[in-house]
Amino acid sequence: MKHIIYKGDTMHRIKEMVTDCVQVHLTVTSPPYYNAKEYNKEDVNVGNNETYHDYMLKIEELISDIYDVTIPGGIVVWNTSPVIYEGRRYPIPFDTNKIFMDNGFEFMEDILAAIMDANNFKEEDMKKTGIKDFIKKKQEQIKEQKEKEDAESNKPA
Ligand SMILES: C[S@@+](CC[C@H](N)C(=O)[O-])C[C@H]1O[C@@H](n2cnc3c(N)ncnc32)[C@H](O)[C@@H]1O
Repeated sequence: MKHIIYKGDTMHRIKEMVTDCVQVHLTVTSPPYYNAKEYNKEDVNVGNNETYHDYMLKIEELISDIYDVTIPGGIVVWNTSPVIYEGRRYPIPFDTNKIFMDNGFEFMEDILAAIMDANNFKEEDMKKTGIKDFIKKKQEQIKEQKEKEDAESNKPA
């Protein structure tokens, strides 16, 4: 049996695997969660995108290539998470799963992990998420909604 290591930009190296007719039984990966964390500023970074749509296009391209290098019955373990970026919440796992299904994969199981991720974030990454503003805005919306409901219920009949 021959073992080959393809090192470098996954988006390109996996295409060489397709050309080389490489077939794998298992893929385990943890791609960047949209732009949530800054790894490097180079083009090769899957986590460096103009828009969420651009990110999802990369993910789609990758999943399609993974399908091409996976043996029938092979397995992909994909670590991902929703993220808050610039004050907006993005449902990455849901959108990613749809892409898997559309590309011929079958859903097996989701494994949920509760991780206190905040400790892993650099201060500037935390700021970029806009999480504090996001929570504040949500709290204000809830307060406004409650005040509206209270005012409605106090109206004379
Ligand atoms: C969520 S982290 C996963 C880290 C990994 N679990 C580890 O322990 O090293 C995503 C990683 O993917 C890398 N990455 C992003 N785009 C890439 C690409 N096109 N090719 C290869 N690696 C990439 C990032 O630099 C980062 O290290």
